[in-house]
Amino acid sequence: MNISVIGTGYVGLGTAAVFSELGNNVIGADIDETKIKNLNKGIMPIFEPGLKELIERNLKEKRLRFTHDNKEAIMHGDIIFICVGTPPKENWETEMKHVEAVAKEIAENMDSYKVIAHKSTVPVETGEKVKDIIKSNLKNDVEFDVVSNPEFLREGTAISDTLNPDRIVIGIESERAAEMMKKLYNPIKAPIIMTDIKSAELIKHASNAFLATKISFINAISQICEKTGADVEKVAEGMGYDQRIGRRFLNAGIGYGGFCFPKDVQAFIKIAEKYGYDFQLLKATNNINENQKKYFVETIKNRLRDLKNKNIGILGLAFKPDTDDMRLAPSIYIIDELQKEGAKIKAYDPEAMEKAKSILNGVEFCNNPYDAAKDADALLILTEWNEFREMDLAKIKSLMKKPLIFDGRNIYNPESMKKEGFNYISIGRKDVA
Ligand code: UDX
Repeated sequence: MNISVIGTGYVGLGTAAVFSELGNNVIGADIDETKIKNLNKGIMPIFEPGLKELIERNLKEKRLRFTHDNKEAIMHGDIIFICVGTPPKENWETEMKHVEAVAKEIAENMDSYKVIAHKSTVPVETGEKVKDIIKSNLKNDVEFDVVSNPEFLREGTAISDTLNPDRIVIGIESERAAEMMKKLYNPIKAPIIMTDIKSAELIKHASNAFLATKISFINAISQICEKTGADVEKVAEGMGYDQRIGRRFLNAGIGYGGFCFPKDVQAFIKIAEKYGYDFQLLKATNNINENQKKYFVETIKNRLRDLKNKNIGILGLAFKPDTDDMRLAPSIYIIDELQKEGAKIKAYDPEAMEKAKSILNGVEFCNNPYDAAKDADALLILTEWNEFREMDLAKIKSLMKKPLIFDGRNIYNPESMKKEGFNYISIGRKDVA
């Protein structure tokens, strides 16, 4: 099938790579000319495990190419995926201008029947809006169908998530579009949920909101654990064996970050408001998440008392492991707050330092965890990269001014840290010294 993907961010690139790998003839389009030139040479704009190899292979096999000419992509695709950004506005409503502009461009350039599928996370009723825009801007008398096909991939596991999804959600209005979408997804073994467009749009928002709420729930429990001397890891384990609950997304920490959960939760609150529903549960999810970062900073301040000229080493900057994405990463807030108190920050992240350099000021970036630990009054773990689980802790201890670790991701066992001679403070577990 001929497939076009407009927008080459995380979702667009993953979609283009996977559909070409499945044997389709794919064009990826983006208005950023430099990005397109690089992509055609196999240079990736993001770090995503497996993406480069997949794109290189399909470029070579000529099943995939990239263009900065949206018109070319619109003419090419039997199915056109809209994967452009839906960033938050100042008031957290979803900025729809990129989706709307692409819809208009599609209408102006479409010369045969097309299925136009939106993959980006968008407010319910976007399908209607896209349909209206296309209808009122059509240049040629051709038919089209709008489809909602939300994407559930996670950064860091984008390729495997797309190739092996838990489910495929397709919101459709016509049999013709349904058949084409089914044919496209035929090689992927996953349950397909065929529904109306609005339900598909809501499935995406509801899923992200539910997962974010699950994280905030365990973070709330972690606070009670700290106050009572219980262990949040054990509580999560005990809860997780209940199949109705499940252990995944019950990891307490410094709160969720990234470009999906924080903005989607806020956007969903706004969407509900628009339809006259006060989504108090989701407001609490958001508040707990914000407080979790603040509470972590307060814990550090209480321990170190005066932060002025204290050396603080940071391990991990990205919002989660296996990505270089710094968007809405808790590290940004935490570092900023510590700097305001006069702390000197040294930081290391295996992948995110290039991106972090353009966001964080006054931070000394290090080549490895040991340099970040050198002369540190405290070491903070902010992202659970596997590299940090395998560090030489004796070496870390010998390099630090004081053996004090604040672990925002609970990657170590407190008792082992005690044996190693650390004063170890983690989330929802007893401090050890
Ligand atoms: C998320 C959704 O999982 C995905 O389905 C959707 O398409 C986009 O948003 P992503 O943002 O890539 O994906 O990352 P995810 O792995 O879900 O983690 C999001 C945030 O939650 C990270 O900051 C992570 O550290 C945090 N998190 C996750 C926790 O704090 N605890 C957990 O148990 C799980």
